[in-house]
Amino acid sequence: MKLFIDTANFNEITSALELGVITGVTTNPSIISRDLADRDADSYYSHISRILTLMAPVPDSLVNAEVISSESDEMIKEGIALAALSSSSRVVIKLPMTTAGLRACSILTGRGISVTMTLVFSAAQALLAANAGARYVAPFIGRMDDIGGSGIEALAEIVEVMKPFDTKVLAASVRSPLHVVQAAKAGADIATLPYKVLTQMASHPLTAAGLNRFSRDWNGTGGTK
Ligand code: G3P
Repeated sequence: MKLFIDTANFNEITSALELGVITGVTTNPSIISRDLADRDADSYYSHISRILTLMAPVPDSLVNAEVISSESDEMIKEGIALAALSSSSRVVIKLPMTTAGLRACSILTGRGISVTMTLVFSAAQALLAANAGARYVAPFIGRMDDIGGSGIEALAEIVEVMKPFDTKVLAASVRSPLHVVQAAKAGADIATLPYKVLTQMASHPLTAAGLNRFSRDWNGTGGTK
């Protein structure tokens, strides 16, 4: 399972890239607005352009950028404009899983623009998205847990019904390292993680304790390198 980072924060993207573990970025209007609040100079599109520049060194990297409108023709216009930010098709347009979004998905994919259907919560929605030509469907695991459901069970069912399609499953709304492992076991193709979850995945108390012991034992010898 590949890993993307779910942020529009340049520092977080740069740090994650340096670890060599991510091949893509996902954003949405909430994430961008959070980061734009600190950056008066940026517009939505210029922010996405800067993320594309940051990700350019990673071969085949993808940046998911979401439309703001919920009206179909406007979504199509925004999708075309966002896709044009990359001359090498590295922008994937995120569309909401609504009938208006499905219509926009069919039209954009017909023009060769890749689409992620977002805010997907059921296998029925995923089936519609796949038939409309979506390259990815993004089930929101954490938000299903939030309302007392099982995000991972829904994800597993979506993975199952996507098998006959080329559509990939991008696990989103990931809140913990456990979610990431469960998503991988359920067969998700990609999980997109907040930076905090990525760093949590790297740490383990026994790793820290083991490192302390190595350091203490070596320093105790008084030896030189
Ligand atoms: O990728 C989707 C994500 O940004 C939503 O996460 O934690 O707001 O449910 P969350």
